[in-house]
Amino acid sequence: MINKCLFPAAGYGTRFLPATKAVPKEMLPILTKPLLQFGVEEALTAGINNMAIVTGRGKRAIEDHFDNSFELESQLIGTSKENYLNEIKEVIKRTTFTYIRQQKMLGLGDAILTGEPLIGNQPFAVILADDLCDSSDGVITQMIEIYNQYKCSIVAIEEVSENQTNQYGIIAGKKIGNSDNTYLVTDMIEKPDPKDAPTNMAIIGRYILTPDIFDILRNTKPGKGGEIQIT
Ligand code: G1P
Repeated sequence: MINKCLFPAAGYGTRFLPATKAVPKEMLPILTKPLLQFGVEEALTAGINNMAIVTGRGKRAIEDHFDNSFELESQLIGTSKENYLNEIKEVIKRTTFTYIRQQKMLGLGDAILTGEPLIGNQPFAVILADDLCDSSDGVITQMIEIYNQYKCSIVAIEEVSENQTNQYGIIAGKKIGNSDNTYLVTDMIEKPDPKDAPTNMAIIGRYILTPDIFDILRNTKPGKGGEIQIT
């Protein structure tokens, strides 16, 4: 059973500056809904009700978003705008949120390791909320099906154009099973130049990880960009 989802959400969001100077990247909206809420809803669709969020300094808007707001609610009660809060209140009702702060921004691998006390010794999902995935059943739902078959760590991939390999972790692998699109991963390279990329199959921000990842990360030296990478 996968019953926890980890959301690394401590980064500075430098690629989105200046929008992320005071607003956490994960709280940037698509129309009226913040990216992180899309991620939480994707996890709920997959039957996961425990969200473990790795935050950092300047990210309190995340905790406030997934909490009651009595002043706002009392202002809206009995008005025509009362229903604007229904969707988020439903999410809050269905979900348990736990938080931990990453002390130093040492990379995605370090952020995931920081989440260990919230996850414990069990397989878990990871969603990078800035990768918005549009799919009716949800990518995590699809990945849990694959996990149930293979019982190992899984990364979601998409094909990218060859000149974009330096923006993603890139895998090499061999097709397995009956499905057309499941690979046994034989290598992973973080953001390789197109000339060094083994394929154009890029890791997107959806993972299922088994808990042995924590010991592996504890012993992983900084890689690309001086950061501890999950790849
Ligand atoms: C991270 C990972 C990378 C992955 C990407 C997906 O990179 O390090 O392997 O392809 O997420 O969004 P980031 O975009 O955080 O630099």
